[in-house]
Amino acid sequence: MSKQDTHFLNTFSMIIGLLIVVALMIFALARVVADRTQVKEVYEDPKYVASTEERIKPFVREAVAGKDNSAMQIEAAPAGPAIALAVPKDGPALYEAVCHTCHATGLAGAPKFGDHAAWAPRIAKGKAALYEHALKGFTGTAGVMPAKGGRTDLTDALIKAGVDYLVSKGQ
Ligand code: HEC
Repeated sequence: MSKQDTHFLNTFSMIIGLLIVVALMIFALARVVADRTQVKEVYEDPKYVASTEERIKPFVREAVAGKDNSAMQIEAAPAGPAIALAVPKDGPALYEAVCHTCHATGLAGAPKFGDHAAWAPRIAKGKAALYEHALKGFTGTAGVMPAKGGRTDLTDALIKAGVDYLVSKGQ
């Protein structure tokens, strides 16, 4: 190796060594800065603290007699949209709300509202039979009368009132 080459290699390794030292210093400085800012901020972040506390809190909460147990109160579910169908108040209202769908036009073979000819043979069966058919459902020659007109959530008394109304207008 010539003298020139040795000189080059010496200078070159010195520069590389210096660069490594500088890089390590920058790394160390970055760690120190991060430790005082980022890491600390993360651990002190209210959201982080809250979520950690949420995760590590005990599963079971015990009521202690004589202590303040208000934190254990079960909150009522938020009132959602009303899913229950409106309940008609009497026979005519029931007819308008439910029976009307088929009985107004004779849809699916239903005896039409106020159609005396259509209702006469049915009324002849007697009220008990009509109540029974309206409550339990009935499949005749004309079509299918669903139980309670499809509103099985309604009371028998209300359905009977609806039958009374249909019959009174069909007589
Ligand atoms: C989905 C359509 C539909 C709805 C809604 C409906 N009905 Fe009917 N209803 C029928 C059909 C169809 C018949 C005729 C069945 C047959 O005789 O073949 C019928 C027949 C009847 C009869 C006569 C039964 C018999 O023995 O001849 C009564 C009473 C009656 N419905 C009452 C009601 C009342 C009360 C309501 C409302 C609560 C109602 N219906 C709602 C379709 C309906």
